[in-house]
Amino acid sequence: MPTVFSGIQPSGIIHIGNYIGAIKNWVKIQNDYPSIFSIVDLHAMTLRYDPSSMENVIFNTATALLACGVDPEKCSLFVQSAVHEHTELTWILTTVTPYGDLTRMTQFKDKSEQNSDNINAGLFTYPILMAADILIYKADIIPVGEDQLQHLELTREVARRFNSTFSPIFSEPKGMLTETPKILGLDGKYKMSKSLNNYISLEETEQTLWEKLRGAKTDEARIKRTDPGNPDVCNIYTLHKNFSGEEEVKEINTECRKAGIGCVDCKKKLMKNLLTLTSPIREKIEFFRSKPEKVYEILEQGAQNCKKIASQTMKEVKSVIGLKRF
Ligand code: TRP
Repeated sequence: MPTVFSGIQPSGIIHIGNYIGAIKNWVKIQNDYPSIFSIVDLHAMTLRYDPSSMENVIFNTATALLACGVDPEKCSLFVQSAVHEHTELTWILTTVTPYGDLTRMTQFKDKSEQNSDNINAGLFTYPILMAADILIYKADIIPVGEDQLQHLELTREVARRFNSTFSPIFSEPKGMLTETPKILGLDGKYKMSKSLNNYISLEETEQTLWEKLRGAKTDEARIKRTDPGNPDVCNIYTLHKNFSGEEEVKEINTECRKAGIGCVDCKKKLMKNLLTLTSPIREKIEFFRSKPEKVYEILEQGAQNCKKIASQTMKEVKSVIGLKRF
């Protein structure tokens, strides 16, 4: 039976882009395969962060995942730093990772540009920690967004190099792309993200959601209500495709093209459908927030499950690299 592994960076705000791009898929796949999901706090350290709020941010992420339906009865959910084998394996893998390959990582280039005052070595070796996350569980199926495919290709290369240098103990994991790799933000231009403040969180109320949707970009060529619109270039329509029913999406497409529906009404429909999805999630987040002991217990149990596998793999690794005795 193949194993699933995926990771998500801890964040103070989990938005609908995270939900569609990753979490929804996790909730589905945990029914089909043994699954391991990690809140990757060590990866988050590669960008400047506030140590005094890190624990809260991790807790917040855990509550959102649980509220969305990540189910500790079906998978292991844990915090990356709680299983120290990840970092131990990372070092060993650095010794078989081609330097040239790391220099070609587009995410490293992008993040270096965006954080030119903090280009640390961790940002550079980030993909090796990711490879360790995966290989320590010998995971086979890795649900990720498109932007992580290059890191997965590197993971396969690292596995091959380790296998040929020492002994073939790792298999090559495969990425599983989510159907909607990218959800754009309210600006209709950039990927939805917390740092760009263009997001819709899972905790919007009707009021806060409408404030955001009201200002959201639609088809910019459609100026007057009577102008026909082009759904293909409208981000609100793209959101409909992800959050509304098939029939309604079809109807909106037709009506928009003949100016039968205006942008405001179209946004109102989207709001209704979004709230249908997020309102129960918001309630569950509140529930888990009021039960921190329960959340920490789930994470602890997840870490224990993972430690069993991870320490076994480390034994095998130490044996084939010539450090069995130590
Ligand atoms: N780098 C991934 C992201 O930013 C998160 C991640 C860390 C991950 N380790 C992983 C994803 C292992 C899949 C497998 O989205």
